[in-house]
Amino acid sequence: MKTACEMSCTLLSIVLLLSCISLSNAGITSRYMRRLAASTDIPEDSPYFKVPEGFNAPQQVHITQGDYEGNAVIVSWVTTEEPGDSKVYYGKEPGSNYTDYVVGTAGTYSFYNYTSGFIHHSTISGLEFNTKYYYTLGAGQSPREFWFVTPPESELDTPYTFGVIGDLGQTFDSLSTLQHYMNSSGQSLLYVGDLSYADNYPFDNNVRWDTWGRFVEPSTAYQPWIWTAGNHELDYIPEVGETEPFKPFTHRYLTPYKATNSTSQLWYSIKRGPATIIVLSSYSAYGKYTPQYKWFLNALAAVDRSVTPWLIVLVHSPWYNSNTYHYMEGETMRVIFEPFIVQYKVDIVFAGHVHAYERTYPVSNVKYDIVNALCTPEKNETAPVYVVIGDGGNIEGLAGVYTQPQPAYSAFREASFGHGLFEIYNHTHAYFTWHRNQDGEKVAADSAIILNKYWYSATSA
Ligand SMILES: [Fe+2]
Repeated sequence: MKTACEMSCTLLSIVLLLSCISLSNAGITSRYMRRLAASTDIPEDSPYFKVPEGFNAPQQVHITQGDYEGNAVIVSWVTTEEPGDSKVYYGKEPGSNYTDYVVGTAGTYSFYNYTSGFIHHSTISGLEFNTKYYYTLGAGQSPREFWFVTPPESELDTPYTFGVIGDLGQTFDSLSTLQHYMNSSGQSLLYVGDLSYADNYPFDNNVRWDTWGRFVEPSTAYQPWIWTAGNHELDYIPEVGETEPFKPFTHRYLTPYKATNSTSQLWYSIKRGPATIIVLSSYSAYGKYTPQYKWFLNALAAVDRSVTPWLIVLVHSPWYNSNTYHYMEGETMRVIFEPFIVQYKVDIVFAGHVHAYERTYPVSNVKYDIVNALCTPEKNETAPVYVVIGDGGNIEGLAGVYTQPQPAYSAFREASFGHGLFEIYNHTHAYFTWHRNQDGEKVAADSAIILNKYWYSATSA
């Protein structure tokens, strides 16, 4: 025989269960929030920033895709004592029996009272798909060997896993994110902007660009990071004569922009396995008639979804963000570009900038014009999913204050540091997971099956 208290508890449980079922499609604002205070940068003399041993040893080694198709890799590194040569020796076997090499270029740049080391960029072309290559830099002085695996050839049902990180910086939280990601199955990384946060230091102390280059080298030397520029790449200080936006970033981080007839390192497109990735610049002109606008429409039209079924857009400032941090900053770009990405059935848009995580339902908001007032986002299975993932762990800390109530388009939001994985299974299904740093790598704090927007439409029509 149950007591009155037990019966009321049972009744309450049933009511709660029913309310959960009826709200099962409502968004979730996670109460799990950590470290709202600013994070601390790792000291300059830390082992995580260690300069490799040996005279003129190559450091800050990083690679990115070097062409549109995936048969080329740009290898970049820095030497400090003297230029040395810009040769990359490479081959399919480790050791020194390389048969091939390429010669790139080396240069320096100055920023206020800082002068960079010798920054080398060499592009290896003509690589085979889905093949492991070894490469050596600094031959004849202090050689260092690394390796990478080229992507599979673009075909309809090619599995591939991308990692996603944004706003990393170089704090101990950044280290946690990096280490978690390096334990994941990510094959290359979609980086959504704000790299070193050197501009948090007086006169954008570019020594912090060097420490960052060494900090991420354990990953960037072995798999391509696909770069997006953020506001912390602007490095614009007219008071001391630094008036060339993106100067350190563009000297250090090349992109294959010429392969898609882009006129700027800051916007470009690549095919990689089953995906086409289009990278945009939030801090360059994007209005109608501008170079970025015209290029973007051409890049969208050039995608063949029977070859690369998945279409991914990277941009720094998010177009859907219900955090109060950087609220509405991406709105003008959304208004201009969203009709095209809905039209071309972009699958997913990754953004950073906001130091928290948020995932939307598939959503569109493209009916508005200046007189009709139709400006409410609508759930639409053929529209993109938007992910904000600027939670890499930088010195500025987390953004923990959300607008209330949670908007209907927002599926999940939480202010914790972490990274994402976008696992493409075939031409119709992918799986996105977000991994907060407090959990083991195998744990997904948020996950969603992503249906391919192009093929979903084709099969459900
Ligand atoms: Fe940012």
